[in-house]
Amino acid sequence: MVKVKVPATSANIGPGFDSMGIALGLYNYVTAEETNTGRLEIDIIDSSKKFLPANENNLIYKSMKRVFDMVGYTPPGLKLTLENNIMVTRGLGSSSAGIVGGIVAANKLSGSKLSTNDMLKLAADIEGHPDNVTPALIGGFTVNVQTKYAVRYVKTELSEKDLRFAALVPDFYLQTKKSRDVLPKLVSMNDAVYNTSHSALLTASLMSGKYENIRTAVGDKLHQNYRKRLIPNMDSLFRLCYDNNALGVYLSGAGPTIIAIIRTDNKMFGCNISRVLSGKLKGWNLHILKPDNDGACVIESN
Ligand code: HSE
Repeated sequence: MVKVKVPATSANIGPGFDSMGIALGLYNYVTAEETNTGRLEIDIIDSSKKFLPANENNLIYKSMKRVFDMVGYTPPGLKLTLENNIMVTRGLGSSSAGIVGGIVAANKLSGSKLSTNDMLKLAADIEGHPDNVTPALIGGFTVNVQTKYAVRYVKTELSEKDLRFAALVPDFYLQTKKSRDVLPKLVSMNDAVYNTSHSALLTASLMSGKYENIRTAVGDKLHQNYRKRLIPNMDSLFRLCYDNNALGVYLSGAGPTIIAIIRTDNKMFGCNISRVLSGKLKGWNLHILKPDNDGACVIESN
């Protein structure tokens, strides 16, 4: 038996489209047990069960199967118990958490033959881009480039003492495909330069703790403006967060969740935002999350 804990993640962080991400303190759990039934059993013990298949098409199982095929291992039968606390289809990395959770569990069950880099390459190949899977696997703030052979990354731990990530999560879903379909196929040189300069500033600022730069650094011209029409009240929510001293506000991954990076000692943020969300901007919920610097880990095995 092996039980894996895997964090939520927030990709892009404004300008780092398909390349940057952070791990957040909200977790899914994958428990995998070998059985002698010769069958696959999947028990999803939360409300996500109405969205997720409990059969061979389950993403966690499919990711496990990729590991078993790579290392030449065949479990006699398998029982998976899945506890999903990361909201599905909201831009908080639920699919990456599934992929990474499955890979880490399968690797442990089959004798830990894959290295972290092997698991990362497989996860990014399955997901298609590395921005969520890298922080889900190793935690922290990661800057990632996927090549044909590997994911090259740098991880920086974020200070729990300094920073919180306030996730404004709506009660509607947005499929990543739909949110990618509204993006242009080509962008101008000006917009490309805008994003490269802002992502460089964001990286340097998060690595050095120069948080006063974040408001400028989260600027983006590659995706957020195009996606705005899929997310009612996005501009008002950004303004609301900045009015309450957010350091920076951005669309988490493909959306629709909006994240405000705040100082840990900004104690009024939660009260003020919650008041507005229960009044004139109903349908959004606030979750104030810590950064996660550990990534996926095996928390039980025998
Ligand atoms: N970088 C991705 C996007 C994240 O913005 O579409 C979602 O997987």
